[in-house]
Amino acid sequence: MIERISHIGIAVHDLERGIGLYRDVFGMQLLGIEDVAEQGVRVAMFRAGESRIELLEPTSAESPVAKFLASRGPGLHHICYEVDDVDRALKRIGESGVRLIDHESRRGAGDTKVGFLHPNSTGGVLIELNSHV
Ligand code: CO
Repeated sequence: MIERISHIGIAVHDLERGIGLYRDVFGMQLLGIEDVAEQGVRVAMFRAGESRIELLEPTSAESPVAKFLASRGPGLHHICYEVDDVDRALKRIGESGVRLIDHESRRGAGDTKVGFLHPNSTGGVLIELNSHV
């Protein structure tokens, strides 16, 4: 069901500073910057071989990423696994007793459908599942 690591999400206070580190210092290719209004974040995506690094800057105080930054500070936020069909994966994982944040997929960055699993059920790791639309 899980095909690969799609990306690793990292919460930052300042996207421009994050880009300065990942693009200019680490030399990683910046694939794009995108506002994801549904999740209250601005996202910068970098290529890391087959996977990606996703920097997340909150665009509103109500954003889950803003709350994460306020309580935990910047750093590792989530890991995203690519699946062939997010809605089917959420249904199956939910039926196995894992607590879901999203019971149905919603729109993510870069023409994807995404859904999150609750870290209380996954050993403290916020897990995102995505699939291409
Ligand atoms: Co993500």
